[in-house]
Amino acid sequence: MSKRKVNDAPLPVGTCISEVQDILRKRLCHQQLPDTPEGVQAQHKHLLELLKRTAIHGESNSVLIVGPRGSGKTMLLKCVLRDLLEEKEVERNLLQVHLNGLLQTDDRIALQEMTRQLHLENVVGDKVFGSFAENLSFLLEALKKGDRSSSRPVLFVLDEFDLFAHHKNQTLLYNLFDVSQSAQAPVAVVGVTCRLDVLELLEKRVKSRFSHRQIHLLSNPTFSQYLERVQTQLSLQDDFPDKTFAQDWNASVKTLCEDKSVEDALQRHYNSSKNFRSNHMLLMLCLSRVSVANPAIKPADLLEASKMCLIDAQANMLHGLSILELCLIIAMKHLNDVYEGEPFNLQMVHNEFKKFLQRKSNSMYNFEQPVIMKAFEHLQQLEMIRPVDSSSVKTQREYQLMRLMLDNTQVMEALQKYPQCPTDIKQWAMSAYG
Ligand SMILES: Nc1ncnc2c1ncn2[C@@H]1O[C@H](COP(=O)(O)OP(=O)(O)OP(=O)(O)O)[C@@H](O)[C@H]1O
Ligand SMILES: [Mg+2]
Repeated sequence: MSKRKVNDAPLPVGTCISEVQDILRKRLCHQQLPDTPEGVQAQHKHLLELLKRTAIHGESNSVLIVGPRGSGKTMLLKCVLRDLLEEKEVERNLLQVHLNGLLQTDDRIALQEMTRQLHLENVVGDKVFGSFAENLSFLLEALKKGDRSSSRPVLFVLDEFDLFAHHKNQTLLYNLFDVSQSAQAPVAVVGVTCRLDVLELLEKRVKSRFSHRQIHLLSNPTFSQYLERVQTQLSLQDDFPDKTFAQDWNASVKTLCEDKSVEDALQRHYNSSKNFRSNHMLLMLCLSRVSVANPAIKPADLLEASKMCLIDAQANMLHGLSILELCLIIAMKHLNDVYEGEPFNLQMVHNEFKKFLQRKSNSMYNFEQPVIMKAFEHLQQLEMIRPVDSSSVKTQREYQLMRLMLDNTQVMEALQKYPQCPTDIKQWAMSAYG
């Protein structure tokens, strides 16, 4: 946070607003680290103590941080590292290697990246190693202090840890865990993953070398805790340059969170996802509606933002369809009603569509068969329809059994919002039977 002087003289509203946006943006979308991460104090303490043992006392260790997407694994690790590096001795000594299973897709690339991050490219030069283990111990040996009495502690962070288990023979994992068990050099191996079953992926010889320490991030806040969190995330702290503005802002945030309609909307978000990431997304959309003309977040802003977050991506895609494609979807919806979700084929859909056309005297929706086929293919590309059995390629296209991947409410809701949807089509969609 900026260390600006807090003065009592009021600042212009425009300045305050841009200051608010600056502060909250950093908090909500620039992944600014909280001073003390909320709800994970125990995990924070555990991990900090574990890493201290390596960084200060030279013990080796291994640990896994496990939690669903967006639960704050990366944030926890970053906070712990920040606090760990506050000690001068640690800052001077500890080396870090950060790998990510999405980037280092095989062990050779991972080894190159390790060498690079440890600044050992020149030491390695053109040397050729017989095995991964040889190469790794060369690297660790090269890190030994001048008098060769002790090594500098190395922290290995493996993000998306589970992906490393797919590397050939799990060589990297085997060797890192092996080093972490032997007294070769002080290393800490920290794996970060969202797979709870990650240990099942490890080969026996790898698993037996792992310490089996796990730190779980499975926080499950109650709704009132969730509401409180929303309020804290939006509130300004005491160091805001304009005291009065900050008080007014915080009061307006409090009022916002007490509003009944806001509470209902938040309840819906709470039910679908409780993590900070999706929460921040919602609050960021609210914040983007704040301006000099609208200097506080109003319930309507939150409701609008909430609607945007909850928009169903598939239903949204319906808005981009052509009228013909939309008609086919409606015909499928009717077939679904009649046959209670049994699969259908293109011929049936076309017949259903024809029934609708016959009831109209002057039809502007007369399409040739190939055009209809094309539309059907497009729907399949968009994954709005899916073949029941993809292996039955032998069947003629028109008779291949398909299923609609949308439900009736999705179709109807999207139709209500379809720009300039012809009334007769809307009526057809609403009619009980095609
Ligand atoms: N306790 C917390 N306090 C404040 N912000 C948090 C907290 N936990 C998570 N966040 C925020 O939530 C967002 C997601 O967290 P993070 O990136 O750490 O998740 P992750 O578990 O690493 O997810 P992924 O598995 O996708 O990598 C970040 O912007 C982070 O700042
Ligand atoms: Mg992460």
